[in-house]
Parts: sequence; C-alpha cells; structure tokens
Amino acid sequence: MKKANILIIGGGMITQEVILPTIFQERRKGKIDQIFVATRRKSTIEKLRKIFPEEEFKGFPEKAKDPEEPFPECYKEALSQLPKPGIVIVATPDHLHTQMTIDSLKSGFHVIVEKPLCLKVEEVYEIDKVAKQVGGYVYTDYHKRHDPALRACQYKYRKGEMGEVLCGHAWIEERREMPLKWFSRWCDKSSSFEYIGVHYVDMFYFITGLKPVRVIGFGQKKFLPKYGKDAFDAIEGIITWENGATYYVQTSWILPEGNPNLTNQGFQITCTEGEFRADNADRNSNFVTTKYGFERFNPHFFKPFIDWDNPERVEWRGYGADSIIQGIDDCLKIFEATEGLPEEEAKKIRKEMISKFEKTRPLPSQALIGTAVIEGVKLSVLNGSKPVIFDEKLYPKIE
Ligand SMILES: NC(=O)c1ccc[n+]([C@@H]2O[C@H](COP(=O)([O-])OP(=O)(O)OC[C@H]3O[C@@H](n4cnc5c(N)ncnc54)[C@H](O)[C@@H]3O)[C@@H](O)[C@H]2O)c1
Repeated sequence: MKKANILIIGGGMITQEVILPTIFQERRKGKIDQIFVATRRKSTIEKLRKIFPEEEFKGFPEKAKDPEEPFPECYKEALSQLPKPGIVIVATPDHLHTQMTIDSLKSGFHVIVEKPLCLKVEEVYEIDKVAKQVGGYVYTDYHKRHDPALRACQYKYRKGEMGEVLCGHAWIEERREMPLKWFSRWCDKSSSFEYIGVHYVDMFYFITGLKPVRVIGFGQKKFLPKYGKDAFDAIEGIITWENGATYYVQTSWILPEGNPNLTNQGFQITCTEGEFRADNADRNSNFVTTKYGFERFNPHFFKPFIDWDNPERVEWRGYGADSIIQGIDDCLKIFEATEGLPEEEAKKIRKEMISKFEKTRPLPSQALIGTAVIEGVKLSVLNGSKPVIFDEKLYPKIE
C-alpha cells in the first residue's frame, strides 16, 4: 500500500488529544511514513515530545534558542521539506485556517482542516478555487458525522422514515477552561458558536441536506470580560432553512469547572412523521473515581482501550478518529490511483475522484454551510440581532 507523509500544523489541544494519537496509530497500521509537526513555538514541540516520548516525528521550530519565541511562518519550512505524497492537517486557531490550507494546496498536498473550514464564505470560495486549480482534496473534520447516534438520524431521515423536518434545537456548551486556559490567546477572535456551535449547524445540514436562508444571532458578554477577555460568554442562533424549518442552536463556553464533562451537548428535530432526540454527552456510562471524581463518560468519541493484539498497548477508538481516518483513506486511494502517472492525467483522475467524494463528505461545497451560518450569526450579533439573509452563493447580508 502507498504510504502518506503527514504534516500537522498546530500543536494544541486537538493535536495532543486526538490527532497525534490517531496518526501514530495509523502509522502502526502501515498507512503513514514520515510525520512532521509545525507549531509557533519550540516549547510546544518540547511538550509534544514529553507527551509522546516513544514516537518519532520531526518538529518545527526545533532549533530556536528561546523556546517561547514565536515563528508563525515556520509551517512554510515544513511544507518545503515534507516528502510527497503528503497530507497536511491544519489544526491551528479558526482564523488561521485559510492561508495555511491554500499554501498547503499550492505546495502539492491534500489537506484535512479542523472544523470550521474557515470563518468567511469568501474564504471558502478562495480555498475551493485553489483546490480546483491544483486538483487538491480539502476535507473538514466534522467528526459528529461519524457519531453513530447522529448518523442513524441521517439514515432514517434520508430514507423518508421521519417525513419532512419542521423544527429543532441543539445545545453545545463547554467548561470555562476553554476560553480561559486553552484558548486564552485567541478566544476573542472566535466564539462558542464558531468554535463548537458549527458542529450542530453542520449536523442539521448533514441530516436534512437543506440550505440556510436566514439567521438571527444573540450574544452575551458578562463573565469573560471580568477576566480581561473581550469575548462572548454565550451565543445563540435561530436558523431558518429553505423549506421553512427553524432550528435554535444554543452555545456557551463558561460552564463551571465542576461540570462532570467538558462539553454538554444534544440535538432534537421534529419532523412530519417523527421526532429524534439525543443527549450526546450523557451516554449512560459514567465513572466515579478517587482520582477524577464523577466523570460523565462518552465511550464513543475517542477513548483508550486495551489493544486486542497487544495488551501492553493502548488502542484509541471512536468517531473523533474515524473522521480524520476518512480523510486519510480518501487521500491514500487518490495516491494509489494516480501513482506514476503524468501530472495532467493524474490531475484529471484526482478531480474525478474528488467530485465523487464531494457528494457525501464535508469537502468545501458542504463545509460552506457551517461557515455561512457562523458568519451570518456573528454578523447578526454584531448588529444588534438584526436578521441576516443569504444570497444564492450563501453570502450573508443584513436583511
Ligand atoms: N474536530 C473537532 O471537533 C475539534 C475539536 C477541538 C478543536 N477543533 C479545532 O481545531 C483547531 C485547533 O484547536 P485546538 O483546540 O487545538 O486549539 P489550541 O489553541 O489548543 O491550539 C492551536 C495551536 O495552533 C498553534 N498555532 C497558532 N498559530 C500558529 C502558526 N502560525 N503556525 C503554527 N502553529 C500555530 C498554537 O501554537 C497551538 O499549538 C481549531 O480550529 C478548533 O476549532 C476541532
């Protein structure tokens, strides 16, 4: 099997907790050759080496004298050294995704981007234009599409068992450690709606296939400003879809530290022939231990288990990994189908394969929905909750 070389840009929470464990495991399965990680600071690479002492990877920047000196462009050096065929995984703050994705495509790599693809509709079209020019694959990691509890709803909806959607609501709220500890450098550039609410925007689209036509957003700033952050505590959006259905999405990231799981979340839709309701945090499998106290445990997201074949080793499983693996496997299929062909012929095959993947995967034409709604909701919030409508290309404007 053809192996992929991987560059991960960004060494933060998602890279430490999901991406690297997944990538190291895929390398053990024989799918991956070299692994590069590019971050802003040498101290982040040092931290990753402490977390994964037995794993081999090349870090950028690794030679800097001051471990805290920022090198925001060092991912470009990593791009110039990454051997082909390769895949870049962009796992930096939301507002940095666009340039890194475009630079990766122009360097001849396929790209997996952490959700949301980007924060502006205009940027989705910029990314898509470059992807089409070079015949590049750009997959957004919307891992909830791989949660069987939600994917089941798509199945029943698309098979017609639920009739037509009329209304629904979702909630996704995180502990205050997210803006205060993990994202303290960039929480004011994003919000709980852009960072996590987008998952349930994408979920409504994934299940129904409907496009948004109008949104109204609301935002509150009471808690975070007390900690010196000019960021919203909570943002809520009401989205109207092309068939007239309405959907309320409630988000926040200031839950108390004592909340027994990082993220409270759930989803409900009412349709003409049925209803679906899921608490996606409480899976009725909870722990109480002296070490961690009460933990609401979701065994499906991304958890360690004893490896069936090597009990000394951990096996990571769950929809957090499945989503990234779908992107990697698609790229491996592309590498296999185009190996050794002249570039023009290879590009034609890449484009044909990508247009097939595009029907079911969050490639830019599907990732557009989440970006349009988060841009629209933010526009509404910043304009006193005025309604925002979308044109046929999903550019938002005040009604
Ligand atoms: N798929 C998911 O469900 C999921 C879950 C969590 C986060 N995310 C997304 O993943 C992305 C990263 O989130 P996170 O939780 O890891 O954030 P984080 O703040 O913990 O990490 C971001 C990392 O990017 C690095 N970075 C910043 N500027 C850089 C630059 N110029 N070059 C290289 N590295 C740079 C930072 O140093 C940091 O290591 C965000 O887009 C977020 O929305 C997705």
